[in-house]
Amino acid sequence: MSINIAIDGPVASGKGAVTKGLSKKLGIPALDTGAIYRAVTLFLLDNEIDIHDEKKILMSLNKISVRLYLAENHDLRVFTQGQDVTPRIRENRVSLAVPVVAAYVGVRDYVNRQIALVASQGNYILEGRDIGTVVLPNADYKFFLTASLEVRAKRRKADLDAKGEEYSLLEVMAQVKERDEQDMNRAIAPLRQAPDAIYIDNSNLTLEQTIDTLAKYIKL
Ligand code: DC
Repeated sequence: MSINIAIDGPVASGKGAVTKGLSKKLGIPALDTGAIYRAVTLFLLDNEIDIHDEKKILMSLNKISVRLYLAENHDLRVFTQGQDVTPRIRENRVSLAVPVVAAYVGVRDYVNRQIALVASQGNYILEGRDIGTVVLPNADYKFFLTASLEVRAKRRKADLDAKGEEYSLLEVMAQVKERDEQDMNRAIAPLRQAPDAIYIDNSNLTLEQTIDTLAKYIKL
């Protein structure tokens, strides 16, 4: 029987870093499910497919080949059409377009099939928005990770600064808020806490403290 740990939460809640850290600590590989939505979105942008044209998007899904590889050091590499697109899926233009694409039920079905297949094949820590609520409602452990809007915007700005993408804190805060609204208000699989998920607000916790907090709940 495989063990699945679901970590859901909003943008810049620290899910990515916490999942990676927990993965190293427990020796369980991590799967960033948002990376699949991002890879699909990048494919659409690269191929100039209008992200508001649901019909065209659904027709192009069978042309997209997304492959995920976990490197020895547990880093996830994402390939579309055989090309390594790992850094490109984090560009801000992808971040801004992905909530629109992730709201289509056909896209969600496509991505969920890939996630469920991977998760059934071994122990995984899966991070996303709807892992504990929709994709793996029977996950062994479920966490809902969050932090205040201001803390999340500051983290997001630091990530963007590091990539040389310059925005003011106010602009980033507005972008984070807008993405929260899109993720929480979409009709299909909106971001929300599963009733049986453990809620962790890490606004005042360091990364290490957050990882330790989650790890204490997990009995392998
Ligand atoms: O965590 P992230 O920013 O890389 O996620 C990218 C987008 O994908 C975000 O808009 C939410 C969406 N997403 C989702 O709807 N369901 C998931 N399981 C993971 C991500």
